[in-house]
Amino acid sequence: MTQQTTLAPTITLPNGVAMPLLGLGTWPMNDQEAAHTVADAIGLGYRLIDTAENYGNETGVGEGIRRSGVPRDQLFLTTKFNRQWHSVAGAREACEASLKRLGLDYIDLLLIHWPNPDQDRYVDAFHGLAKLLEAGLVRAIGTSNFKPQHLQRLFDAGLVPHHNQIQLDPYHRRDDLLAIHKERGISTGAWRPLGCGNAMLADPVITSIAEAHGRTAAQIVLRWIVQQGVVTTPKSANPIRLAQNLALFDFTLSDAEVAALDTLDRPDPTMLDADTFGH
Ligand code: A2P
Repeated sequence: MTQQTTLAPTITLPNGVAMPLLGLGTWPMNDQEAAHTVADAIGLGYRLIDTAENYGNETGVGEGIRRSGVPRDQLFLTTKFNRQWHSVAGAREACEASLKRLGLDYIDLLLIHWPNPDQDRYVDAFHGLAKLLEAGLVRAIGTSNFKPQHLQRLFDAGLVPHHNQIQLDPYHRRDDLLAIHKERGISTGAWRPLGCGNAMLADPVITSIAEAHGRTAAQIVLRWIVQQGVVTTPKSANPIRLAQNLALFDFTLSDAEVAALDTLDRPDPTMLDADTFGH
């Protein structure tokens, strides 16, 4: 008997590649936890998996992909590399090392994890990504945690990422970046979509909308993100929450509900700053 799974819709990256709107984040899973959670998630219908060199779990993620039994071409794998690889040759080395750990022969989306402006080599790293795209080792290329000024340096060099993955949730709306992404055709990814420590999930604006829909607060936050066409990859190792986080595509937030969620943005002095933080 074949089990019916509901898949998330996809967006189209600027180079025509389809990327699922909703996927699994894998930080902070170790290899063992990643292997079984990735296999479980794919079984539930997840087709996008997000990892990074820095998470130290690419081996487990690759194992989970193989255990799932779903053909590679039906899955979308994102990974990211660290600051030591910020050069043309370094990007290639980082890519080859990730492929080896993952046990795969291509990556769907490879990102520069943090700009690390102190070493000022992210433009070179992006030139390296462009070469990997030409070589067919990756299907799409992008950045993570790039602020407007970092993106501008790429634009000035004639480079435009397909995707920029940033911290984004109702408490961190990131309107400045979303406007630039829209103008340049860059797709957006949202990391830490459920907010640090989950205090946001108790916000009365969010819980009252959740109650009205008979959904959880997490589903309302995730729906607010994907309804904007923003890709997101919540992490959960819990099978019930894994299923819940994918069940976003059979309800819609009204304009008034979106407007109410849009008012929640606020300054966050603890937010990681890509001008000073990076690895
Ligand atoms: P768990 O793995 O036990 O489910 P983020 O991706 O925003 O960083 O969120 C990850 C955190 O949110 C993890 O602690 C995860 O815990 C928790 N989480 C994931 N999904 C849900 C959910 N649907 N409701 C509440 N908490 C969740």
